[in-house]
Amino acid sequence: MKEGTQELDQSKDSERIEVRFRDLIPEIPRTTYGTFGIYGYPAKFIPQIVAYPIKKFAEKNDVIFDPFGGYGTTGLVSKVYGYDYVLWDLNPLMKLIHDTAIMEQSKIGIDSLIQELKTSKLEFIPKWSRMEYWFPEEFVPMISRAWGYVHSLEYNESLLLKIPLVKTTRFFSWSDEKTHKLYKSKFAKRKIKELRKKDWKSLFYKKLEDEVRKLMDGIKEYSTLNPQDVSYRIKCGIDTLNTDLDEEVDILITSPPYLQAQEYIRSTKLELYWLGHTDKDIRALGRKEIPYNEVKEVEINSETYYKYREQIKEDHLRLLYDRYFHAMIGTFSRVGKKVRNRMCIFVGPAKIRTTEIPIDEILIEHLTQEGWKHEMTYVDTIVSRVMFKSKVNPASGLKDERMKTEHLAVLKHTR
Ligand SMILES: C[S@@+](CC[C@H](N)C(=O)[O-])C[C@H]1O[C@@H](n2cnc3c(N)ncnc32)[C@H](O)[C@@H]1O
Repeated sequence: MKEGTQELDQSKDSERIEVRFRDLIPEIPRTTYGTFGIYGYPAKFIPQIVAYPIKKFAEKNDVIFDPFGGYGTTGLVSKVYGYDYVLWDLNPLMKLIHDTAIMEQSKIGIDSLIQELKTSKLEFIPKWSRMEYWFPEEFVPMISRAWGYVHSLEYNESLLLKIPLVKTTRFFSWSDEKTHKLYKSKFAKRKIKELRKKDWKSLFYKKLEDEVRKLMDGIKEYSTLNPQDVSYRIKCGIDTLNTDLDEEVDILITSPPYLQAQEYIRSTKLELYWLGHTDKDIRALGRKEIPYNEVKEVEINSETYYKYREQIKEDHLRLLYDRYFHAMIGTFSRVGKKVRNRMCIFVGPAKIRTTEIPIDEILIEHLTQEGWKHEMTYVDTIVSRVMFKSKVNPASGLKDERMKTEHLAVLKHTR
């Protein structure tokens, strides 16, 4: 080992600490506590990961910002600890999940709600050219009447039903609702075959009702955390990779898109169509994801970035690698200018072929040359998030791997 290398490694060790985030926040006793698990959003944070830096670093009147908000976990946790927050995400689902998760407890009777939905004659058919591919023909009138009713309600009234109906709709489709990836699986074929043999109409309404009850229980449980009356600003459909932050915030906490699995829009598109988005909208959103989004090139000040880049021989993988880092570094540099205090970036060591790419180290190397000081990296060895479980990711042409450790890098402002 060269002189200097050892020193670097030692200093790295003193800035790394192993943790189990889920054990550090006793007031949130489970990862799906309250409304933290009302929908299986791909690559969702566990709430404890957000709670930890908030409890450690946030001060009175701080504003917390998540530029890749996803499920909206950062917002839901900020509310519990009494901080204002700003959430951005490309995926329009974020607003729905967030607004549902912070709902007041409802006094609406579930029985009469389901009865009204069952007897409603209104219909809604998504503007989706692939409907027949995804839904058994005989289920469609029942599902479209349920959605017709839900779309006829006022936004706030509809919230108690939308996520339960999204989940029930997916269950009655040819997709495998147990994975995030949208595809027709053997499991789904068996599922539909079994449903067809039974009284599937009753099962549909029973599942919907069960989902509404589960949601109501979650809302009640979240209220025991005493969420505070704070203000928040949510932007969905926004391209974070190319947008400036128009206000100052104190702490950024986020988990950016993964290097190999960026298809958040594609994996939630069945839901988005039923919620009223069109083919055109959804295609336009998908084009904003990495590696399709042609982000502006930026200067990357990280030796590690160039060292790993050299090892990538195939053009399409190098393009993916380049676009990923130009997007991430460009984004954190740009929005970081409006962050007054700390950036807490949660990533996992993703692989390109067999090489593990130290994403956090690359981001840290660059950002420390832009007025940020690396304070600590918290390493959680638990696989806390279910990844896209496909054999091959179409974006990269590679096999998806589960992450082994996940890292929360904390950078402090020094300017
Ligand atoms: C790892 S997930 C974030 C998960 C989030 N921490 C949670 O708890 O659900 C990354 C998010 O980045 C979003 N994203 C991808 N490309 C984007 C873009 N160009 N602009 C804004 N958000 C984007 C995805 O929709 C996804 O929700």
